[in-house]
Amino acid sequence: MDSSRQKGRISRDIVNQLAVIVRTSQIHDPRNVAVASAVEKFVANVNALMQEEGPLEIEMVGEYFYLNGERVKFTTEHLLNFDSLLREFKRRRLGSVKFLCETRPEEVQAFLGAFISSQSAAEPFEDLRMMTERLKCIQAGGVRRIAEGSEDIRKAVKHTYFNAVSFTRGVMNKIKTGERISMKKAKRVVETMVDTLLEKEEFLLGMTVIKDYDEYTFHHSVNVSILSVALGQKLGMDKMKLMELGLVALFHDIGKTVIPNEVLNKPGAFDAEDWKLMVRHPVFGVKIIFNMKNFDASSIRAAITAYEHHIHPDGSGYPGARKLSEIDLFSRIVAIADQYDAMTSARVYARSPMSPDSALALMVRRSAAELDPLLLKFFINLVGTYPVGTLVMLDTRELGIVSGANTAEHLRPRVTIITDTDGNRINSPVVADLAEQDGAGGYPRSIVKAVDHNRYGINLAEYFL
Ligand SMILES: [Fe+2]
Ligand SMILES: [Fe+2]
Repeated sequence: MDSSRQKGRISRDIVNQLAVIVRTSQIHDPRNVAVASAVEKFVANVNALMQEEGPLEIEMVGEYFYLNGERVKFTTEHLLNFDSLLREFKRRRLGSVKFLCETRPEEVQAFLGAFISSQSAAEPFEDLRMMTERLKCIQAGGVRRIAEGSEDIRKAVKHTYFNAVSFTRGVMNKIKTGERISMKKAKRVVETMVDTLLEKEEFLLGMTVIKDYDEYTFHHSVNVSILSVALGQKLGMDKMKLMELGLVALFHDIGKTVIPNEVLNKPGAFDAEDWKLMVRHPVFGVKIIFNMKNFDASSIRAAITAYEHHIHPDGSGYPGARKLSEIDLFSRIVAIADQYDAMTSARVYARSPMSPDSALALMVRRSAAELDPLLLKFFINLVGTYPVGTLVMLDTRELGIVSGANTAEHLRPRVTIITDTDGNRINSPVVADLAEQDGAGGYPRSIVKAVDHNRYGINLAEYFL
C-alpha cells in the first residue's frame, strides 16, 4: 500500500480513537477497563507514528482536524466521532494536543481526567492547561489558527464559485454571438466545483444563497449545479458520476441564451407570445448542446436533461409528457435543485424571493405531481430543516441567518447573529454554533422559528460575501 495513504489511515484512526476515549471516559472513570483498552490502542498508534515522524500535534482548524499540519480526512462512518470531538475541543477553547515524546497509558489517562473535569470550569482551557502542566509528554495548546484557517477556506470557496459564474457568463455570451463552445473547459470548471464540494460541502452550499438579480441566469446555473451535485453525493454517487451530473445541471437552462433579454427580464407578467418562446428553451438547449465541440456521452446526457427538466411526472409541464420512470435520474435531480433555487431567488417576474423553508414546504405539496418524492426527501435532508440562508428568530430574541449545518443536529445549525436582543442590526455579526452547550449542559441559544427575510428587508448575500 502506498505510504501516504497508509499515513492518512493512521492519522484518521488516531483522531477517531481520541474521540472514542474522550467519550467513553465521560461515561466511565478514565481508569475503567473499557477505557483502558481503548487508551492502550491509542497510545500504541501514537507512539508508532512518532517513531517515524517525531513529535505529533493534533490540531483543530475551523471544522477540521490536522495532524502535523496535514488535514485528517474521514469517511461518513467517523463523522459523528469527529463532530463530537470538535465540539469538545471548542467547548474548552482547546486548539491542539501535542505529543512531545512517546507517551504511556497512565499519562493519557491523567490527561483525560483533566480534560473531563475542565468541562465545567469557568475558564476551561486555562484549567486544562494548569492540570496538565506536569505531564511530561502531552501538552494542551490554545486555539491558534481558527480564524485564519476558515478565512482561507472561505476565500478558496468564493473563488471556485465566482469562477464558475464567470465561466457560465462567458459561455452564454459566446453562444449568443454564434461561437461554438467546447465541453472540455466546462468539465474542468465542474471538476473544481465537485472537489470543493466534496471537501467543504457546507461552505460551497452556503454560496448558493447568492442570487444576483441582474445576472440571475448565470448564478442560477451554478447554484443548480452545486445543489444537484450535493444531492447526488447524498445518493452515494462516485466522483465520475458527480462530475457528469454537475455538467448536465450547469447546462440545463442553456437554451435561454437564445431568448431575447427583453423577454427574459420583462418586468411584469409574460403574455402568451412570451410564454410560447419561454417554453421552448428546453428544445433550444438540446440544439445548442448538439452544436458543441468535443461532443460525447455526457453531452447526450446534458441534452436529455435540458429537454426534460420541466417535464412533470404527472404529465404536466413542458415540452412533452413522460412517466416518472421514463424521466432520466439526472433530470429528476436537476428539476428539484432548479425549483428550489428559482423559488428562493428574486427575479423579474417574482420580485420577492421565498424563504428557503417555505420553498421546501411548497415543493413537498407539489411533489406527487411535479417532482420525484423520494429524491425530494433526500434533498430536504441535505438542505436541512433550517437550510443555509434561512433567517431565524432565536429564543434570545436575536435574529440570525443560518450559515452552516451541523450534521448530527439538524435543529442546531451554525447561525450568524445579525441583530441584538432588541432587533437592532449589529455592525460586526458573530457566528454562534447552536450545538455548543454551556458549562451546565444547557444551550445558550435555540431557534424559535424561521422568519421571512423580506419582512425584515434583509439582503442575505450581504452576509455571505
Ligand atoms: Fe429551465
Ligand atoms: Fe432553471
